[in-house]
Amino acid sequence: MPVHALLNIAVRAARNAGEIIVRSMNRLESLQITSKGRNDFVTEIDKAAEAEIIAHIRKHYPKHSFLAEESGEIQGGDSETVWIIDPLDGTTNFLHGFPVFSVSIACQQRGKLEHAVVYDPMRQEIFTASRGGGAHLDNHRIRVSKQRGLEGALVATGFPYRANMQHIDAYLGMMRAVMENTAGIRRPGSAALDLAYVAAGRVDAFWEIGLKPWDTAAGTLLIQEAGGRVGTLTGETYTQGGNIIAGSPKAYEALVELLAPHVTERLKDA
Ligand code: IPD
Ligand code: CA
Ligand code: CA
Repeated sequence: MPVHALLNIAVRAARNAGEIIVRSMNRLESLQITSKGRNDFVTEIDKAAEAEIIAHIRKHYPKHSFLAEESGEIQGGDSETVWIIDPLDGTTNFLHGFPVFSVSIACQQRGKLEHAVVYDPMRQEIFTASRGGGAHLDNHRIRVSKQRGLEGALVATGFPYRANMQHIDAYLGMMRAVMENTAGIRRPGSAALDLAYVAAGRVDAFWEIGLKPWDTAAGTLLIQEAGGRVGTLTGETYTQGGNIIAGSPKAYEALVELLAPHVTERLKDA
């Protein structure tokens, strides 16, 4: 299937952003950093990478709209097409020179996710998907793992460290259950990349509480196109942002069931 023009543009934009990020790695000490809240930092690089992505897309499609982490909503005239962008997912890692972060770009049309790119600029791995066209890693087809349950499963997560700290007790209960029932937990530090790894079968499942649409939009399409499932903590339809569970179909179902006793009423509204 030919690569859609919109996906090509997203790939180019993600690579350009990745270059900006990687080039700045040798001057981390001198970066301008501002705090958006507790444990929530934004650097001039997040902003420069986002500006580059938006400018690149606008060059081709001046009327498209955006939902981008650092700029918020931008109405371009054509509100049927919205690009959902996290220019640097894993800023905490980036700031420490811990080389796990990604660029996440999704294109949504008439409310449906149509194209997705998650780019890991350190490994130069590009994960892509278009609705109905499958998911790919560097042009090779990827699929979620064949994991049939949680026994032996490798599960990725994101630990609470910002506003989601209010749910720390519920989260620790979940973590204990997952530790006791799987081969292990990983916390790489970039939710978009974690979801891409689910799509590629590198981890069998993922869960996190309190995410944002730009963390999950591209990863959601990648997983769906790789044959996996994405839902809320209670196994309902996931609309971008909030609490998420994803995985191979069987690992997903098993994780929903395992976490169910820990999903408090407060958490359902989070
Ligand atoms: C964060 C990363 C992290 C996840 C956080 C996100 P940011 O995004 O994806 O893995 O645990 O919930 O906010 O702030 O680095 O773009
Ligand atoms: Ca993010
Ligand atoms: Ca970010």
